[in-house]
Amino acid sequence: MTRIELKNANKSYGTRQVLANINLAVQEGEFVSIVGASGSGKTTLLKMAAGMIQPDSGAALSNGEALNGFPHRASIVFQNYSLLPWLSSLENVILAVESGFPEWTATRHQEQAERYLQMVGLGKAMAKRPSQLSGGMRQRVAIARAFAVEPEILFLDEPFGALDALTRQTLQQELAQLCQLRKPAATALMITNSVDEAILLSDRILTLGRNGNRGESPAATLSDGVDVPFPRPRPADLMTGSEDAVRIRARLTGFLSSGVRRRAPVSHLQSVSVPLEA
Ligand SMILES: Nc1ncnc2c1ncn2[C@@H]1O[C@H](COP(=O)(O)OP(=O)(O)OP(=O)(O)O)[C@@H](O)[C@H]1O
Ligand SMILES: [Mg+2]
Repeated sequence: MTRIELKNANKSYGTRQVLANINLAVQEGEFVSIVGASGSGKTTLLKMAAGMIQPDSGAALSNGEALNGFPHRASIVFQNYSLLPWLSSLENVILAVESGFPEWTATRHQEQAERYLQMVGLGKAMAKRPSQLSGGMRQRVAIARAFAVEPEILFLDEPFGALDALTRQTLQQELAQLCQLRKPAATALMITNSVDEAILLSDRILTLGRNGNRGESPAATLSDGVDVPFPRPRPADLMTGSEDAVRIRARLTGFLSSGVRRRAPVSHLQSVSVPLEA
């Protein structure tokens, strides 16, 4: 079943087209990442796929049906935590659990929230407010909140972008384990600026980029993607331990630096020829 889908989606802000002819299909249980340069339209694409903004033309679907707002049983994690500052960690998570499971009792809401905060190592920080936590701890709360609603679909927008390398590595592993805990595994669409992070976590990686000649500012399009054929979860040292992983990285960085469009099929080339005002 296709849980996340964009069909021929286009998006402009004012007169500037940001995304052109985006086609994306993420199957149930699949973890797909999109890497692309800053400002290329990654967040815009994710928000369209999550039903938070509408494409100007084309469609966003889930299970073959047009999305009408954020899908049921889905969670989203943003780069900047997006926790409510006046609530404790526990209250932030409870709030999400309440809206995900309105039929549950208050005790069950609290137990569920505590369980997920404990899973991300925040058992002792439940009473703390976001301002009393480090960046890594705040992002752990955001991840606990996302998983505590037992989502079938996860949208992740550079979830670890604001963290130092070590914390980032730890949280990548926690995320991978949480994804596998769910049966059937959650379907995930992640935006990241890190090729290595994408290789560590995803089944498939797509690149988003522009293919402009100098002076032009065309809209970004999505590449066909690269498969990452290793079982998940993967060891943290994958990138140093596997020649295949290193080859995949080289292919992706090649795409990103040279502009994947030039090697794309003709149908893709036709789709990006949208004249733009810079
Ligand atoms: N609501 C908006 N109104 C007008 N322009 C917007 C809006 N949102 C985004 N843009 C513009 O569209 C382009 C793509 O933005 P978007 O946030 O999708 O890119 P991104 O790839 O996620 O960037 P970053 O890597 O910095 O997160 C940018 O030039 C941005 O300035
Ligand atoms: Mg963004």
